Amino acid sequence: MEFNHKPVLLNEVINGLNIKPDGIYVDGTLGGAGHSIEILKNIPKGLLIGIDRDEDALKAAKEKLKDFQNVKYVHGNHDDIKEILEDLGIDRVDGILLDLGVSSYQLDEKNRGFSYMQDAKLDMRMDKTQKLDAETVVNTYSEQELAKIIYEYGEEKFSRRIAKNICEERKKCKIETTSKLVEIIEKSVPLKNNGHPAKRTFQALRIEVNDEIKPLYNCIEDCIDCLKPSGRLCVITFHSLEDRAVKEAFVQAQGVCTCPPGLPYCMCGKVEKGKIITKKPILPSEEEQEENTRSRSAKLRIFEKS
Ligand SMILES: C[S@@+](CC[C@H](N)C(=O)[O-])C[C@H]1O[C@@H](n2cnc3c(N)ncnc32)[C@H](O)[C@@H]1O
Repeated sequence: MEFNHKPVLLNEVINGLNIKPDGIYVDGTLGGAGHSIEILKNIPKGLLIGIDRDEDALKAAKEKLKDFQNVKYVHGNHDDIKEILEDLGIDRVDGILLDLGVSSYQLDEKNRGFSYMQDAKLDMRMDKTQKLDAETVVNTYSEQELAKIIYEYGEEKFSRRIAKNICEERKKCKIETTSKLVEIIEKSVPLKNNGHPAKRTFQALRIEVNDEIKPLYNCIEDCIDCLKPSGRLCVITFHSLEDRAVKEAFVQAQGVCTCPPGLPYCMCGKVEKGKIITKKPILPSEEEQEENTRSRSAKLRIFEKS
């Protein structure tokens, strides 16, 4: 299957990174290399490090970027950015991009089990070498755990009912396919409920399987630590929980005082690492939202190291 993914907020990212022609840049979510190819056009004397935890994405990116020699490909998790750069013998970089979440390719590729529109084995792993998959989550998590995940990561108000029905069904027979799960969700949710009834539960399971939220705050801190002075970090989020983690990590890195009010002097040991460039997140233009529906929930935040 062709790797099909339109880069979101492309011009805004390229401007936001403030690219130096001889700089070192990290694309921590290489995907189909839609952003990376534009970064590479701007760094004739620089280096790009492309990280993805999906080997299919790396393969597609290598093909797309075959004319560029100044790229290093890493199969890994950007949460490990410090170790990844250390292994490459690189101390600091000029810019980092994180375009979070899944690619359109991952969603559309039937065998990956991300889509509620196509029948497949319940999988949803971005990294196929990882152990935890959606089948394990659906068949082994407790009813309470499932309800919590579906509510928090999917913002699904019928989460408890869905979790209860999953647990009842799995007593009869293991839930192994996306279509079986969709059938259970459809029985649990009123049909006229804001889009496809399975959309929010599938999003929640994907976030849990790939542990997309919990490590994000620390990852942003680490990315900022890896920047050279004046280096920029651009992060595109698609979910309110992701955006909150990014915003909070940026505010902290800007050096907010967290002392209780009324103290005569600051005692929290705040550290100012740089400044937030985007007081409010940058959103896609109406034109982009029309052209690429996936961009509609995107938010870009930018931080500059001092
Ligand atoms: C939204 S897509 C990026 C698309 C890319 N910017 C483009 O324009 O083609 C996100 C990509 O990041 C990868 N990814 C998500 N979380 C990751 C993580 N923690 N570490 C490494 N790669 C990750 C996914 O496998 C996917 O290929």
